[in-house]
Amino acid sequence: MTNSPSLLDRVPVIPVVVVDDLGDAVPVARALVAGGIPMIELTLRTPCALDAIKAIASEVPEICVGAGTIVEPVQAAQAADAGAQFLVSPGSTETLLKAMTDTGLPHLPGAATVSEVLFLLEHGYRELKFFPAEASGGAKFLGSINSPVPAARFCPTGGISTSNVDDYLSLPNVGCVGGSWLTPADAVKQKDWDRISGFAREAAALAR
Ligand code: 3PG
Repeated sequence: MTNSPSLLDRVPVIPVVVVDDLGDAVPVARALVAGGIPMIELTLRTPCALDAIKAIASEVPEICVGAGTIVEPVQAAQAADAGAQFLVSPGSTETLLKAMTDTGLPHLPGAATVSEVLFLLEHGYRELKFFPAEASGGAKFLGSINSPVPAARFCPTGGISTSNVDDYLSLPNVGCVGGSWLTPADAVKQKDWDRISGFAREAAALAR
């Protein structure tokens, strides 16, 4: 299957967000929108994550909210029911792919090796998450596989920040990156929404 509309061509950086306190979800989403990033990947790593997706979907309609860290098939339908508009998984199994496909939502399955990339290409995917990016060879790895495997485009995630984001965005097989640096835990804890908007503004201005 192909993901349509493309998830990789919307923003230079997809914010990967962990929400511990449900009350932070909507202000974080609004801060990202204010900074020019109308997209958020809410990770299913905390007990309130599904409720956070629900709150964002209903209260911040101008943002495209997705669910990240889909590691169990059942989470795909749960995220869809909560209002997620896209899904992201850190890795790929047959059952996980089927569960995500069954939702009808665009999704980014994860790969970290050439064999995993080929596995996903065989399943019809052209847009993948490369995770964990820095620990798996980083921009050098992606640059090296563009020639032998040009059909795959990536959203690398994991260990990316302002210091190395340009290395990734300059690659022909990278559409956007994912990262948590737009919503650092201390900024969320201090409810410093302006700081988050500032990080989003910088990210939105990155050249691809
Ligand atoms: C993730 O899915 O956990 C992302 O890779 C976030 O990684 P980061 O915190 O290193 O940006």
